[in-house]
Amino acid sequence: MRSISSFVCQECGYSSAQFLGKCPECGMWNSLREFKSEKGKAKSAKQIQSNDITPRTLGEILYEEKQRLSTTISELDGVLGGGIVAGSVTLLAGDPGIGKSTLLLQVGLAIAHAKTPRDSVVLYISGEESAEQIKLRANRIASNFSSKNFLVLSLSDTDALVEVIQETKPQLVIIDSIQAMESTNLEGLSGSVGQVRYAASQFIKIAKTLHIPFILVGHVTKEGMVAGPMVLSHMVDTVLFFEGEKTTSTRILRGLKNRFGPVDEVGVFIMEEGGIKEVKNPNNLFISEEKKSAGSVLVATLEGTRTFLVEIQSLVVFSKLPLPRRVAIGIDPRRLELLLAILQKHAKLPLGTMDVFVNVAGGLKLSDPACDLGICLAIFSSLKNKAITKTIAIAEVGLLGELRMVGSLEKRIKEAQKLGFKNVISSKNYKTLSKVIDSL
Ligand code: TYD
Ligand code: MG
Repeated sequence: MRSISSFVCQECGYSSAQFLGKCPECGMWNSLREFKSEKGKAKSAKQIQSNDITPRTLGEILYEEKQRLSTTISELDGVLGGGIVAGSVTLLAGDPGIGKSTLLLQVGLAIAHAKTPRDSVVLYISGEESAEQIKLRANRIASNFSSKNFLVLSLSDTDALVEVIQETKPQLVIIDSIQAMESTNLEGLSGSVGQVRYAASQFIKIAKTLHIPFILVGHVTKEGMVAGPMVLSHMVDTVLFFEGEKTTSTRILRGLKNRFGPVDEVGVFIMEEGGIKEVKNPNNLFISEEKKSAGSVLVATLEGTRTFLVEIQSLVVFSKLPLPRRVAIGIDPRRLELLLAILQKHAKLPLGTMDVFVNVAGGLKLSDPACDLGICLAIFSSLKNKAITKTIAIAEVGLLGELRMVGSLEKRIKEAQKLGFKNVISSKNYKTLSKVIDSL
């Protein structure tokens, strides 16, 4: 065995054979840290078993449906594509405090309780909390956690953990969190890119050789989408993102990458006093009760394969500031600026001197362009103090004020009608934004 040194940038994960003062990838100064790894001699093709090096035709390759472990939570199974695949590594990313530990503790307990053919344990490893803290949380979420198949370990030493996992051979390993893992094999504190990548690569190795699935928790702050655990997204099989506003109880689980299932699929949950509950029919979750006031419009957004009816709320008031305020919660602020410009130019709405606030009810984050029309109409409704009731708006708005056809329009209309909304405004019945506004 020989020891190989490389230098890894703590900001972006760039790796170099020699020390550099400035990272050529992201331009940060002094961000490279030494990273030692033990490597055996590389194998020549002859040493690898002959089966591995013979190219085969597609007909010779046998494909078996992957063996999956159900999490017992159908919303989560759906996002994963039917359960956890043996030997797969999943990264569960999300803001600190959003509920990742709670969700995984529930999943772990449920799997340990379920009578699976493999009567082996679920190992929950926490590098952040003590075993007592985990017990306290378990007290909150479950009445029955006496299963001998659920084991907790509070430890953050990557190399020691590798040994423990190889010995225990659990049916599922949960690592909470990958940022807390630390190895004395390399420099840098826990949470640095080098440590995070090292820990992940060690765990991936065990996952693949012993066919043990892993779920890794990664804390991601809004600024940290690239640095931190997101550098792992190309290493792991599946990346899930757990999102929501901490002030509301709705949580959305989104599949960002999945080698074994659909991407962009979402699961809906609510955070309650006694843990996280799945919401199988989230029809009324994003719509508030009273529907008579101005400034509220319903849209039909497509998340993965599901349609959600969501309420967009807007408040338009006269501004005292030379540069009026534009606040967007749940939609991209740049999209709001753009739609305001379109409303001014093509619908002749005097918004230049107005403060505009837009909020998506229920804490959902919308990126579907089909919500454009709804956002515009909510702003119009608040400005003119005119309620728009029993109506769903589904269209993208172009820069010329035209309404554009969106994907799966029929599916969205059907969903709206199913919930009793007969009046649908879309590119099917209107060509431009100004025509829609004239008709209201
Ligand atoms: P946690 O799972 O610790 O978040 P993360 O691991 O993503 O950092 O969740 C923390 C929040 O969840 C905390 O504010 C308390 C709240 N919570 C509930 O509302 N209900 C519960 O049953 C539990 C265990 C936590
Ligand atoms: Mg946690």
